[in-house]
Amino acid sequence: PESRLTDRFGRTVNYVRLSVTDRCDFRCVYCMAEDMTFLPRQQVLTLEEIARVARTFTELGTEKIRLTGGEPLVRKDILELVREIGRYGLRDFAMTTNGSHLPTMAEDLRHAGLHRLNISLDSLDEDKFRRITRTGRLSQVLDGIDAAREAGFRGIKLNTVVLKGRNDEEVPALVDFARRKGVDITFIEEMPLGQITEHDRGEAFCSSDEVRDIIRRHHDLVPATEDSGGPARYYRMPGSKTRVGFISPHSHNFCATCNRVRVTVEGRLLLCLGNEHSVDLRRVLRGNPVSDDKLQQTIIDAMDLKPEKHHFDLNGDVQILRFMNMTGG
Ligand code: GTP
Ligand code: 5AD
Ligand code: SF4
Repeated sequence: PESRLTDRFGRTVNYVRLSVTDRCDFRCVYCMAEDMTFLPRQQVLTLEEIARVARTFTELGTEKIRLTGGEPLVRKDILELVREIGRYGLRDFAMTTNGSHLPTMAEDLRHAGLHRLNISLDSLDEDKFRRITRTGRLSQVLDGIDAAREAGFRGIKLNTVVLKGRNDEEVPALVDFARRKGVDITFIEEMPLGQITEHDRGEAFCSSDEVRDIIRRHHDLVPATEDSGGPARYYRMPGSKTRVGFISPHSHNFCATCNRVRVTVEGRLLLCLGNEHSVDLRRVLRGNPVSDDKLQQTIIDAMDLKPEKHHFDLNGDVQILRFMNMTGG
């Protein structure tokens, strides 16, 4: 179906990222403060409410839904939600996860109708992995990646946020790992969401061009011809199925082709990751009388608020106070 969601800049929105929880079993330094307070239960959408948001977007022509967090797999009964949304006939149904629960859940997720998985992996070294995720165990994530491969997903992609002095030296090893496992990998420039204290974001910044040059010392990178349909710019390596992508919000702005919106687990419809413009869907979801038309119209009208682009600034004041775990990236 043609999406009925278009904005003032002529962009069509046909992709929704739904955050299903703000909680996570990791505390990645670029994403969260060390001690976080999480949302109280009544502010969080129920699984039924999330499914209703997903169904409404599908009725409006959305073809792609990605479930995010926090960590989506720590949400109780997440498999039921996946099963429900899996019935909506989406062209693409995906999840972004830290991988720690995949050893036990990958196969069930695939059977529940999920098509693709993105798994965060910032290091292959136990100590470095621990220093970035604070509470994560590398071995669980590695087992999770293998479980996902065995479960037969249509696509698996690894995500690495590259930080100078923390994991930039591991870039070649991570590419080789992705090649060995037969999965894609994208390298991401850190975005300034939330006030973090563990490192200086300006000093830790590692541009995608630098990362690409490092990889080119080891492998030929040929620009992929197909459109990725997202912010990542992909390259192929001769003799390998693995694609290497770069998500570069700072050095290569991709806002002009943005096709997505986000819904936080509080039911805030966010029109852009890098802005605070949002519309409260929870109020409509919990309104009396319950009205599907009202929900549809609220979403259609919200598109007018979608800003032209983000204004991330690593060295300036933090403009975005919300942490990444509120939006799932
Ligand atoms: P696809 O949905 O298949 O394109 O995957 P993806 O790589 O966009 O999704 P994923 O959840 O794996 O996100 C990887 C990184 O891309 C995260 O750091 C996200 O914050 C970032 N990202 C995704 N979409 C956007 C966007 O619209 N704007 C910005 N600035 N970053 C984004
Ligand atoms: N900047 C860039 N990427 C981030 N992620 C989390 N926080 C940030 C940030 N501040 C990434 C995670 C995960 C994806 C959902 O977003 O590593 O791969
Ligand atoms: Fe958890 Fe993902 Fe944030 Fe890490 S980046 S703390 S895994 S939500």
